[in-house]
Amino acid sequence: MPGSSDDLKLAGIELANFRNYEQVTLPALGMLNLFIGPNAMGKTSIIEAIQLMTSYKSFRTAKVVEAVRWGCSASCVRARIEGAGRIIDEQMVIDGGKRSYLLNGKTRTAAALRGLLPSVVFTPDNLALAKGANTLRLQAVDDIGVQLSKGFSQVKADYTRLVKQKNQALKDEAPDHLIDTIDDVLVKVSSQYTVHRQLVCQKMRTAFAEHYRNISGGSEEVDLAYLYSWDKDKQGIWTSETCDKEELKEQLSQALARKRPEERARRKAVAGAHADRVSFILDRHDAVAFASQGQQRSVVLAFKLAELDVLKQEGDTRPLLLLDDVMSELDEHRREYFMACIDRNTQTFITTAHEHYFSRDELNQACVFHLPFEGPIVHG
Ligand SMILES: Nc1ncnc2c1ncn2[C@@H]1O[C@H](COP(=O)(O)OP(=O)(O)O)[C@@H](O)[C@H]1O
Ligand SMILES: [Mg+2]
Repeated sequence: MPGSSDDLKLAGIELANFRNYEQVTLPALGMLNLFIGPNAMGKTSIIEAIQLMTSYKSFRTAKVVEAVRWGCSASCVRARIEGAGRIIDEQMVIDGGKRSYLLNGKTRTAAALRGLLPSVVFTPDNLALAKGANTLRLQAVDDIGVQLSKGFSQVKADYTRLVKQKNQALKDEAPDHLIDTIDDVLVKVSSQYTVHRQLVCQKMRTAFAEHYRNISGGSEEVDLAYLYSWDKDKQGIWTSETCDKEELKEQLSQALARKRPEERARRKAVAGAHADRVSFILDRHDAVAFASQGQQRSVVLAFKLAELDVLKQEGDTRPLLLLDDVMSELDEHRREYFMACIDRNTQTFITTAHEHYFSRDELNQACVFHLPFEGPIVHG
């Protein structure tokens, strides 16, 4: 069911011993929320807390325990989620080096909660997507996939475990029959994983190209290409044609047989979904090598807007949009386009050091929070 205006919203949030916050309560959030203040005041920490309550990861760190306030043993973030006649109390506790979640007082895994209230995060780090390493783009596709389907998360987790197991076996110089057994499973799981990723790319393509056209106003076409780990020799011949699962299994089996000596020599798995590639293609050329800085920014912006569109269309609940400090990275034209794409039903959180990026209208409509928070610990 596509999102509707009666979708779930983040109505309030409370942070305790999270990053630089001892205790802060924001009991009344709106549709557009602006956090304005100088550096090091805790703007990013608010976005991070919201991300942890919605997509269950932090763009800042893979080690969530780092978010516990220095000198404290535990951290708690509590969200009030409202909509569709429901009020949901969601809590995250980081204690004893571990993170756990409670939904209406009952323990839940992050995997079980995923999709409840998804989010799209856009930070200056994302600007590296167009120019940076392939792993960033694979991760970006995976981040969309895990929020779209529980099947995606499961297959990603299974695959990650298998590759780890295979790498260990290769390090241990395990006999061929043992590696064959791992490869038998790997072929199936890897192909499933690739199919899931291709589906995400497929869903992204149209919106990605359309946003790019609108932003650039030019004639260049942008597209996504998915390249298989065994197809590296084909670099330069970009295509978005994809194989189905049976074909993938067949091709990967052959690649694994061919690559066994290389995997033995390097003591690591080289064929499989972890070594696939996602490329941004600009007029049939790889953006990594050929895009100008301006084109790269437009590509990333178009990708993020497409991500928002896809999660809106495909998910059960309309995603939140979290923008950390990106306004200053975009020129006026891109900023205006971006703001125009945010519809009134998308709950949005924006941090910035400069109020002047927003029009009078936007400021009047928004819930504006000035940092540092002063006086009473409740702000709303
Ligand atoms: N675990 C932590 N405990 C206490 N303070 C922290 C922790 N992690 C980061 N900080 C501090 O929190 C402050 C706010 O950081 P941040 O949210 O990035 O601010 P902003 O986005 O406004 O620049 C920084 O001064 C940083 O050093
Ligand atoms: Mg910041």
